[in-house]
Amino acid sequence: MKKSSFTLSKDFKIAKIDNRLFGSFIEHLGRAVYGGIYEPGHPEADEKGFRKDVIKLIKDIDVPVVRYPGGNFVSGYNWEDGVGPVELRPSRLELAWSTTEPNTFGTNEFMDWCKAAGTSPMMAVNLGTRGPDEARNLLEYCNHEKGSYYSDLRRKHGYEKPHNIKLWCLGNEMDGPWQMGHKTAEEYGRVANETANIMKMMDPSVELVLCGSSNSFMKTFGDWEATALDHSYERVDYVSLHQYFNCNDGDTKNFLARSCEIENYIKTVICICDYIKGKRHSRHTVNLSLDEWNVWYHSNGTKFDRWSFAPHILEDVYNFADALVVGLTLITMLRHSDRVKIACLAQLVNVIAPIMTENGGNAWAQTIYYPYMHASKYGRGYALNGILDTTKHDTKDFTDVTDIDCAAVWNDEAEELTVFAVNRDFEQDNILSVNLKDFEGYAPVEHIVMAGFDLQAVNTSTNGRVKPVSHALNGVYEAESEIKLAPLSWNVIRYKKA
Ligand code: AHR
Repeated sequence: MKKSSFTLSKDFKIAKIDNRLFGSFIEHLGRAVYGGIYEPGHPEADEKGFRKDVIKLIKDIDVPVVRYPGGNFVSGYNWEDGVGPVELRPSRLELAWSTTEPNTFGTNEFMDWCKAAGTSPMMAVNLGTRGPDEARNLLEYCNHEKGSYYSDLRRKHGYEKPHNIKLWCLGNEMDGPWQMGHKTAEEYGRVANETANIMKMMDPSVELVLCGSSNSFMKTFGDWEATALDHSYERVDYVSLHQYFNCNDGDTKNFLARSCEIENYIKTVICICDYIKGKRHSRHTVNLSLDEWNVWYHSNGTKFDRWSFAPHILEDVYNFADALVVGLTLITMLRHSDRVKIACLAQLVNVIAPIMTENGGNAWAQTIYYPYMHASKYGRGYALNGILDTTKHDTKDFTDVTDIDCAAVWNDEAEELTVFAVNRDFEQDNILSVNLKDFEGYAPVEHIVMAGFDLQAVNTSTNGRVKPVSHALNGVYEAESEIKLAPLSWNVIRYKKA
């Protein structure tokens, strides 16, 4: 048995967590939209075709923001194809994923769906095959009240009130050679800056996300961020990070250390933002938007018919090991919530997603659903910089990996404190001593645990066995309480002020 301690004080505040840290992503890709959130004719569909069973699962997570419509898809998308009378909308060849896009779901349907799902939009503009002009027209369509061509077009389409979309992505992964309209950092920095200028001329209240690198292994990583930011620094509010994890080599010990990779990535991008801030003598701070992250590898190599409609692609079936990696990543994000303000688990339904559906059938929670739900439910408030004392180990790619990892969130309004913890050890319990410095009266009330599963165990449409259990704790205040973290476990320890 191993021992660790985690010391917490109200004074050790990292930041007030931006709720958008628990966002997600819906792309026109595979069955994310069609057969995922939207399936007219399904027994659970409402009058607009939105699946209520899926909305219920989303509401249980409480997803504050959803990025849309892509992803790689956005770089070839004509937003005009997806508005107006449905019977007049064109079908298009969708080149990013080699499918056919019918455009029966578009911007207005997405906005209606956001309302139904209790979330808000993070809209991306196409800076691949299109540019600043298309971006300003879409912004006018969405945010201008009336009296101009595109705002009146929206009204003609039945949406009298503007959508007022506040958060916008300036393209997607423009550093990636696979991206339609791929650019060099210079080219992208210039067009992103000009687009940002025009968009803020039209609506100064919007917040803009600059594309950073597609992942930290890109050859241009670092230089890309510095160059693109140098062109656009004053006009953008966030720079994006994307990171997906795999366990292709079957080395789970190493896989469980992958959150160190994202930690280094975050730290490096913070340094680059602040370097450009210093270089430009700016008073403005650019923060981070980790707007695509997840485990992604199980579905690689899936075959499908080119130009088919809504095929089963990127439908990773997640196991228990993946849930631990997702939990560890959430812990890492909470620790950096002073600069990581937005994050989107990619994606939300069917496509590398916590929620799966069958066409015409069930919707269910994958293993990764639970840590995401716990973080979103209990991770609102102040992230605390707890002092973690624990043993360490090395893996194939990482050294000094902590045997357990922890984050703490204090919700001062609800007078609740939550500790999130993962025990990475394959065999041994870890007794975590939580030391509360100045949380008088805060008593441990619940310990939620996911543990004891085979690392490969998955959930299916009819068997949701990989799920958390809740244990009531004694509810008595103690300055130091000991919690047993089982080997390979995700833990949520909840304290409440009596
Ligand atoms: O989320 C799937 C894809 O991953 C997105 O379309 C793209 O942005 C990224 O490469």
